[in-house]
Order: sequence, then structure tokens, then C-alpha cells
Amino acid sequence: LSRPEIGDVVVDWYATAARDLPWRRPGVDAWAVLVSEVMLQQTPVARVEPVWRAWLERWPTPADLAEATPAEVIRAWGKLGYPRRALRLREAAVAVVERHGGVVPAEVAALEALPGVGTYTARAVACFGYGQAHPVVDTNVRRVVARVLHGRAEAGTARAADLDDVLALTPTDPDRAVRFSVAAMELGALVCVAGTPRCGVCPVRDLCAWRLAGSPPDDGPPRRV
Ligand code: ADE
Repeated sequence: LSRPEIGDVVVDWYATAARDLPWRRPGVDAWAVLVSEVMLQQTPVARVEPVWRAWLERWPTPADLAEATPAEVIRAWGKLGYPRRALRLREAAVAVVERHGGVVPAEVAALEALPGVGTYTARAVACFGYGQAHPVVDTNVRRVVARVLHGRAEAGTARAADLDDVLALTPTDPDRAVRFSVAAMELGALVCVAGTPRCGVCPVRDLCAWRLAGSPPDDGPPRRV
């Protein structure tokens, strides 16, 4: 089951419809991408933006953050929530200095070995920070895949096969594959939202397995008897 033509349509849609977010602009380095992804894990875009800017002005490289104290990073984290993320980010900066000479590594395995960096964040940094084509799977992308590829209303729990599902939708051209990773996230954030998606403005409405099946509701949780 391979539908790369669907990914191509999503990439073209992204070029016209995406939000202009500061960490997506050209020239943003892998450190700035890593900081953005850790902040965005549990905090909405609008609250992340000002804190991300101030953070990078104060600590423009991993070496700068590695010298900060835990109290300083907690204070700078402000009201983003889950402040343990700030401490892990500082630990990651220390590890980047100790293991990688202060340069955020480009390999997924080295990224995943950093404190607080999991499967998602490692691939997001390799893809958005270093321009490598990797499947980048967050909850938005899993919902897009569930609908477009599998014809289900909502994504179930995360599975190892999610990576293969995203690859099935990925354009074959490598540059477009890189852009597809962020484009699929954006489609899930803006159009293919949880609950009632905005199918009327969806670029792949006529290619979507869930739409073609008549947009059936979820089976829902098993009923107690
Ligand atoms: N662009 C790249 N990564 C993102 C994220 N996690 N949330 C919103 N926009 C992003």
C-alpha cells in the first residue's frame, strides 16, 4: 500500500497554506529547531513563540546553555509548563558539548541518545534542522494517516508501524519528502483536526480513504456488558 501521490498534494498545499512560524524559516539551525521541538511537545505554538525567541537570544548555542544553572533555565522557561523539560534541555546541551564538540548531532541515533530526546524529537531535528528525509510522526500525523490511508476516524495508540504508514504517503522526490514531514503535521494541525475535521478545505479530500468510505464514526471504546 503506497500512495506517494497523496504526499505530493499535501506538499503543494503546504506551500500555499502553512503558517509562517519562526523555527521553520530558512537558516534556523539545528539547535534552534531542537529548542522549538522540546517546547512544542506540550505547549501551543502561540505561547512557545516569545519564549523560544528570548531563549535563543540568551543561549544561542548548546555551549551557552550548558553553562547556565538549573535555576536560570527554570526561570527562563516561564509558564510553558512541564518545567522538567527545561532541565532536560540543559542536560542535552551539556551532552552535546561533551560528546559532539558543541554541535547538535545530525544522526538520529546520536540525537535519540540525548537527554529528553525521543523518537519524535530526534527525527524532527534531523529532518527540519538538517534537511534529511525522515518520517516525523506526532499525534497530528497519526490522525492524518489513520484517515487518509486506513479510513479510520481517529488514530489509535502509537505503533511501530506508524513510521511505515507515513513512508507510504511520502513523496518519492527527496526534497519533497523532507517538506512532507512538516506538511503532514500542518495538515493535521489546521485541517485534519481531531473531532470534526475541515474536509471542505482539505487538499486530499478526494483521495482520503475515510472520506471515500463516507466518513464513518469511530467504533469507540468497547462497551461493558
Ligand atoms: N513545525 C515544526 N515542528 C513543529 C511543531 N512541533 N509544532 C508546530 N509546528 C512545527
